Amino acid sequence: MKRLFIKTYGCQMNVYDSARMADLLAPLGFAASETADDADMVILNTCHIREKAAEKVYSELGKLKLMKAAKAAKGERMILAVAGCVAQAEGEEILSRQPAVDIVVGPQSYQRLPEMIAKIVRGVGHALETEFPAEDKFDHLPQHSISNGPAAFLTVQEGCDKFCTFCVVPYTRGAEFSRPVGDVLAEAKALVAGGVRELTLLGQNVNAYRGQGPDGTAWSLAKLIAMLADVRGLERLRYVTSHPRDMGDDLIAAHRDIGQLMPYLHLPVQSGSDAILAAMNRGHSVGDYLRLVERVRAARPDMALSGDFIVGFPGESDADFEATLALVRAVGYAQAYSFKYSPRPGTPAAADNRQVSEAVKDARLQELQALLLTQQAAFNATCVGKTMTVLFEKEGRQPGQAMGRSPYLQAVHADGAAALIGQIVPLRIAEVGPNSLKGILLPTHEAATAKRVMAD
Ligand code: SAH
Ligand code: SF4
Ligand code: F3S
Repeated sequence: MKRLFIKTYGCQMNVYDSARMADLLAPLGFAASETADDADMVILNTCHIREKAAEKVYSELGKLKLMKAAKAAKGERMILAVAGCVAQAEGEEILSRQPAVDIVVGPQSYQRLPEMIAKIVRGVGHALETEFPAEDKFDHLPQHSISNGPAAFLTVQEGCDKFCTFCVVPYTRGAEFSRPVGDVLAEAKALVAGGVRELTLLGQNVNAYRGQGPDGTAWSLAKLIAMLADVRGLERLRYVTSHPRDMGDDLIAAHRDIGQLMPYLHLPVQSGSDAILAAMNRGHSVGDYLRLVERVRAARPDMALSGDFIVGFPGESDADFEATLALVRAVGYAQAYSFKYSPRPGTPAAADNRQVSEAVKDARLQELQALLLTQQAAFNATCVGKTMTVLFEKEGRQPGQAMGRSPYLQAVHADGAAALIGQIVPLRIAEVGPNSLKGILLPTHEAATAKRVMAD
């Protein structure tokens, strides 16, 4: 057996892809390993979204180069591969910056890995693949075989046609592509047969999903979700990430009508200033977003909203930033991600001469994060005393403890629940900790009652 170590950076699509690469290489005799030490093959599955993310890769490669040399001194080989969005964006440049790298493979070319490895073993120097045949990738990667517990990710859509002026994704992942409904269904059923109870459908613009249905027409995400909700044993569905422009009426209605669809929506807005939204090429205004939030909440009043924000986009004034704070106050987020704008090579905003200073970006990020954290704490506090269902995913830190997720995606710990991993169980939320909620198992008879009440 050869040892394979994959290190994953960036978004959930990379997590999904890393698992697919492991499945693809298993028949070649590669068994997954927890560390890079002494591995026969190391893959860095990289992210290019912000400068920091991309630079991390080169420092990691510096360390791996030494490990590779140590292995070579013993007469053994370590194949070093860079996959993911840095591979796609930088291609050849990676080979010149770090000659120890053997393979550079973009996100749409993983199916080529076996032949690339064979090339390296034959001793033909380097191998580079950065083409964009997305259909190929999904047709040739093996189906999701190993699942890591009862909650799994399933990529249904990849790529982006939106070209926000700050973002590299349309360049690294290519054009929007949706997997056919039949393929998604087959993969979902296989996962459920393997013990999965909750599926998160993934896509860079997942709500722009237009996959070919069995009837030959293009199905929306709402229609796909309705079909998956009929798969026996699949008890929870989520999807991420959505674009406000693609939030169709049928998807909003699905949150009202489909019990398995969880009341959590990640709906990035990026900024609360119309001028900045226009400069970002987001294709929606602040008013559009607020009306959308209202419609979503009308369909599902307990919806927990999450978002992404960028501070310090070129030209962002104090007033623009204040408008972002005002939007956050108006919406009330259960959870959110916020970032300092990072100029990315080749994107239009990077060439804008109105860049905001680091000091201003730092101050704005701090202020925004403080507000978002207050909102998160307020949302969590409203959960105390309530009964909610938790899907237990893994053991907690304390003996006998288990960790799971609430419908609103909060982490919940409960004592004495280790035997319940893989099950969806009602809990009473007792308190809010710094990073998770604490839940208490209900006595069996209470649990049975609570289950009935919730089903009603
Ligand atoms: N497709 C998703 C998100 C993709 S990237 C969407 O459109 O919402 C995830 C987040 O990273 C983005 O929502 C954005 O907030 C952030 N991001 C992207 N490019 C960035 C950049 N150049 N600088 C800082 N943050 C960025
Ligand atoms: Fe990037 Fe915008 Fe596409 Fe999201 S919608 S991936 S932020 S270009
Ligand atoms: Fe990063 Fe690529 Fe995902 S740039 S966020 S790994 S799509």
